[in-house]
Amino acid sequence: MDEAGGRLGGKRIVLGITGSIAAYKAALLARLLIKDGAEVQVVMTPASREFITPVTMSALTGRPVMSDFFDTGSGAWHSHVQMGQWADLLLIAPATASTIAKMATGVCDNLLITVYLSAKCPVMLAPAMDLDMYRHPATQKNINTLHSCGNIILEPDEGVLASGLQGKGRMQEPEQLCAAVCAFFGHSHALKGRKFLVTAGPTHERIDPVRFVGNYSSGKMGFAIAEALVEAGATVTLVCGPVTLNTPSLPEIHRQNVQTAAEMRDACTAIFPEMDGAVMCAAVADYRPAKPQPYKIPRTGQPLTLELTANDDIAAILGAMKRPTQLLAGFALETEHDVNRATEKLRRKNFDFIVLNSLDTADTVFGADTNKITIITPQSHTALPMKSKHDAARDIVAKIIELTNNSLPLSVRKEPN
Ligand code: C5P
Repeated sequence: MDEAGGRLGGKRIVLGITGSIAAYKAALLARLLIKDGAEVQVVMTPASREFITPVTMSALTGRPVMSDFFDTGSGAWHSHVQMGQWADLLLIAPATASTIAKMATGVCDNLLITVYLSAKCPVMLAPAMDLDMYRHPATQKNINTLHSCGNIILEPDEGVLASGLQGKGRMQEPEQLCAAVCAFFGHSHALKGRKFLVTAGPTHERIDPVRFVGNYSSGKMGFAIAEALVEAGATVTLVCGPVTLNTPSLPEIHRQNVQTAAEMRDACTAIFPEMDGAVMCAAVADYRPAKPQPYKIPRTGQPLTLELTANDDIAAILGAMKRPTQLLAGFALETEHDVNRATEKLRRKNFDFIVLNSLDTADTVFGADTNKITIITPQSHTALPMKSKHDAARDIVAKIIELTNNSLPLSVRKEPN
């Protein structure tokens, strides 16, 4: 069954099937994915076998279906870890309320959930259930949890449900699901061969050997942008201030750790000329102690005045260095939704676009997993709803793709290698 030339050529998809009436649609979905060039490995929950047989799925995919932790005949172990690492995508369709709850809470009492918990790849799920189950606060909370972990939810349609009721809960049709998968991977070629610099996290400015001036930036947004750029096919140099996050385990991300704004400036100015673009996400300290002390400043009980001196604006330096073929994007963190101030920064720093990060809700602060952003270009501004940082990062990368492919005479227009 060699159909590797399609839109999904070479992509490896684990298709998880759970116990819903909509499981019958998984047969056509598997067929469509294969027709588009994907290799499909089916993992079925025990409940799903009441709705569609493993024989159907293994015959369609040309691979034995995995369902149990062990092969009961030979005793062979079905490695969920290997499957999680093999896949380029885990697609769970249909996803029942019960599976969604288990995924949200990590209850791994079947092979599919263990694959999910071990998976390194993106995860898409297509909920299918009755309308009341779908809109129940418990289900909505679980879906939000999964969404905020970076999973992609393929929202159910409104329509006639198996119960005979009409409402939202009907799994998307296999053709729609296959199109969503193709669109997802379609993106993954858009920045193929491009190189991006991303700055992330805070900087720490030394006061003495044990103290520093810093801020609460977690680095999560910069890391999410690095991952979203890689998803789109790019390689990333992540210049990162002191954060506690692990580097995403992607070979396309090269991390360079720095402590201070001066170190970040030196790293960025050295790297930027080789790049197709940069996203300046770091919360660089505006000031540093003018005279860092070589010894620990003793406590005297008296007031202490610390003289601060201004740090260089790294983004503005790159803005001045920028060639017409390069793209530069930055962030503006404002306590009010201040488009004018952000637009002024966009001009001053010579950004192609700036992401306004609104601090007008408690959830959109440093360290949170969600973000509410407005993307501002010299021509337009687009306010987006509250999203997971992963989804916000994908929106930002979509803007990069749009600008690199359309309006700018970027080097990125040349054919990728
Ligand atoms: O001027 P402001 O600090 O609000 O600008 C924020 C943007 O500039 C962010 O993209 C940030 O990463 C970048 N920046 C920088 N170097 C600085 C200060 C800010 O790269 N010293």
